[in-house]
Amino acid sequence: MIKKIPVSELKAGMCVADLDSTVWRHAPYLYTSPGFVRQEDLERIRASGCLEVFIDTAKGLEAESGEISDEERLDRLLQDPGAREWNAAGLRVPMHEELPRAHRKYKAVLDCARRIAESLAARRPLVPAEAEDAVEEVIDSVVRNPGALLCLSKLHKYDRYALTHSANVCGLAVLFGMFLGLTRERLLDLGLAGLLHDAGMVLVPQEVYSRRGPLSRDEMELVRAHPAHGRRLLTEAGGFPQAVLRAVAEHHEQYNGLGYPQGLRGDQISQAGRMLALCDVFDAMTSDRSYMKAVAPSKALAIMYGMRGQNFVPGEADLFIKCLGIYPPGSLVRLNSGDLAVVYGSNPNKPLLPLVNVILDRRLRPREPRLLDLAAVPPDDQGRPRLKIIECLNPLNYMFDLRRLLGVELVPA
Ligand SMILES: [Fe+2]
Repeated sequence: MIKKIPVSELKAGMCVADLDSTVWRHAPYLYTSPGFVRQEDLERIRASGCLEVFIDTAKGLEAESGEISDEERLDRLLQDPGAREWNAAGLRVPMHEELPRAHRKYKAVLDCARRIAESLAARRPLVPAEAEDAVEEVIDSVVRNPGALLCLSKLHKYDRYALTHSANVCGLAVLFGMFLGLTRERLLDLGLAGLLHDAGMVLVPQEVYSRRGPLSRDEMELVRAHPAHGRRLLTEAGGFPQAVLRAVAEHHEQYNGLGYPQGLRGDQISQAGRMLALCDVFDAMTSDRSYMKAVAPSKALAIMYGMRGQNFVPGEADLFIKCLGIYPPGSLVRLNSGDLAVVYGSNPNKPLLPLVNVILDRRLRPREPRLLDLAAVPPDDQGRPRLKIIECLNPLNYMFDLRRLLGVELVPA
């Protein structure tokens, strides 16, 4: 299990996790050099000013006896009546019906994100009503089928990460807000905040934003100021609710006070700001970029589980995981039969055995799509699942567009 702990609790023999991700590189107090910690390293690490570190308990000291897999750990968390109820209500409109519509809505949100970015860069006024219309469409899609938009967002790599990230965080924030039972008015605020959360990045040069190597102190300060710049730019643009502006300003704050730019802690951070932080980290981790490989959704959720009490309010991180399930819709998975499938919906009683659409055989040959409820497959003689998920894969590693195999007629970019 990957777990975030204070540096003060770091011991020789622990293994600093290799997260293969730059999501946290702007975190001011995070120690990130992977590998086993030696006694002689401890003083240096503590003197570096870092206050937090991710450790991999499966490799180093403090490996818990009877270690269970990340998926099993999440499975236990999901044995909760509230999560079951949500997942059971999950498929109001069947996935195959909503996917084509969700595809058009997703394109519309992407277009909106692009126009906003271009207007901000050119210092042209924004049209809040246009953004509101796009978010309203997202809400409608999520009401019809909570997983369809999320499913599409993870099956294809678009060229401009900043735009897809804005659209994805918008969709995730609406989905999470709906899971929490928020009113439509608050869903609209949340969706807008998701769409606009990185508006301040328009002031950060692309070269700085996408560099894998270290940033200078000035560059780092510029990046860390983007939530405050975003709030200022959107305030100047006019027409956005205060709740949206505040959430934008707070999306990199942390529960333990070690976030930025203000170092707010606990409930000094608005609920919308805390929700955006969860959506932002999840999408950033599960997105593929030229300088950063995506982490599988189930792995990302397991890592976020280990960030409870540090970055996130423990109960709220649990709720986010419950909202998405172990294998969120759109996860590409390999079954023990060798076939590849896309997750369509969670099973409220057996989260490890979701509803999937089998699309490729073991040799990656497209096959007639087949909806399969893994929980309904008869178990083997010992009562163990005969057909189960053995691996979560990165859909972006495949050279063809998986959305076509799901029957989605693609709208040209
Ligand atoms: Fe950000």
